[in-house]
Amino acid sequence: MVGVVASPRKGMNTDTFVTKVLEGAQSMGATVEKIYLNDLEIKPCQACSKSPAPAFCFYNDGMEKIYKALETADVMVIGTPAYYYSISAQLKLVIDRSNCLVEMVKLPDGKVEFRHRIAKKKKGIFIWVSDFSRNMDLALGMISLWFKDANIELTEVFAVTDADRGEGAKNRVELLHKAFELGASFARVSENQNGSV
Ligand SMILES: Cc1cc2nc3c(=O)[nH]c(=O)nc-3n(C[C@H](O)[C@H](O)[C@H](O)COP(=O)(O)O)c2cc1C
Repeated sequence: MVGVVASPRKGMNTDTFVTKVLEGAQSMGATVEKIYLNDLEIKPCQACSKSPAPAFCFYNDGMEKIYKALETADVMVIGTPAYYYSISAQLKLVIDRSNCLVEMVKLPDGKVEFRHRIAKKKKGIFIWVSDFSRNMDLALGMISLWFKDANIELTEVFAVTDADRGEGAKNRVELLHKAFELGASFARVSENQNGSV
């Protein structure tokens, strides 16, 4: 299971919830990894309109870590704070740089088909952390499009609202427990299916 933290704030709300899910999976024996997007140098997509195949992009930078995770993980946990009702810029960079994960193939009958260049199918948990916002439509729209290209099935959506109220989301015991259980349940399912997460 690979967790991706798209908030620049280590140890804060998004990080805490991604970590809880990973801890749940780990408690069931799963191998877990956490990636902080803010630590990676990722160049924005340059819209070069050329196929980088066999690579996923002409640029060799922090995205290599993400491409590798997409090729190997069974479960991706993507956590982002709500920025302008949507997602953080760190995550948007990753999404734009996924543009070449799908290729257009011309079929003998002249029709066109889009194919995944990453064959590995993954399950996806999307964690969205907001303060006052309730409407996830913008974030979910974007995540759904990205998951499709990255060959991730959107399996679970975990929303944390009112994140900055009271003592903050990282002290919400019930929600944290739910996140832990979520991670554990994904590890259980994967274990039954193929023994790894
Ligand atoms: C640039 C920016 C934009 C934000 N936009 C929203 C928003 O549209 N809706 C909302 O509820 N909170 C918004 N917030 C608040 C964050 O979503 C909130 O503080 C969240 O808990 C941050 O997560 P973190 O602790 O993991 O960094 C925004 C914060 C920043 C810095």
